[in-house]
Amino acid sequence: MSEHPRRPYMVGNWKMHKTRAETRDFVAELAPRVADHAAYVDVAVCPAFVSLAAALDAARGTAVRVHAQTMGRAPQGAHTGEVSAPMLVDVGVHGVVLGHSERRRDDGETDRLLAEKVPAALEAGLEPILCVGETEEERDAGEMERRLRHQVQEGLELVPTERLAEVVVAYEPVWAIGTGRVATPEQAQEALGFVRALVGDRSRAGAERIRVLYGGSVKPDNAAEILAGPDVDGALVGGASLEVADFAALVAAAAR
Ligand code: PGA
Repeated sequence: MSEHPRRPYMVGNWKMHKTRAETRDFVAELAPRVADHAAYVDVAVCPAFVSLAAALDAARGTAVRVHAQTMGRAPQGAHTGEVSAPMLVDVGVHGVVLGHSERRRDDGETDRLLAEKVPAALEAGLEPILCVGETEEERDAGEMERRLRHQVQEGLELVPTERLAEVVVAYEPVWAIGTGRVATPEQAQEALGFVRALVGDRSRAGAERIRVLYGGSVKPDNAAEILAGPDVDGALVGGASLEVADFAALVAAAAR
């Protein structure tokens, strides 16, 4: 196949940042800046729940997608404080970040829970972005592959084989998140190639088409070399997604 089977994907994870007004201004400014790249790159931002509506308003009619940062496991019910996948679809959200390392660390999200959330998102019509990645201790102990194998296999376990390619996997080494310590291009490529091979154990076709992203201290000055890896389909970006100029530069880097 001469044409690349996967469209690059740049996703801005805003975490607990930005008011509604800041969200609206950001999306309104971002949309025209990335419009020319939209033919080649998918672009999404992930605001806090209370700013989703503001983001969706500003993104209407543009190429910018709006994702949530997490969701509840059940479609509805007695789960105080949770927001379900069907509720997110109802307001127009396109996708959802699942199993971010901050939620694994702070909110006790486990691979078992994610095994249920990933297919729940798909069933509701959301694009799941499953986050995986090893800690520094795990890497130093030679446990990276074992950790990734567990996270990927369990996170995708209940996804029907024919829908694997609809999931996005973000490899984010915990030691590179918000630290300014970015993985080398070789480390990123190696881990993403490994993730793709794990998907290939389930389905060759799924592995060819599933998008795998790198995350962890991606900035405009290091993006190009990371994105050059053959298995690197884009990035999940935290800090550098909070400034329009930086995030637009990252989208431009992915379009090249
Ligand atoms: P960072 O965050 O780009 O600030 O390292 C990445 C993430 O947590 O998704």
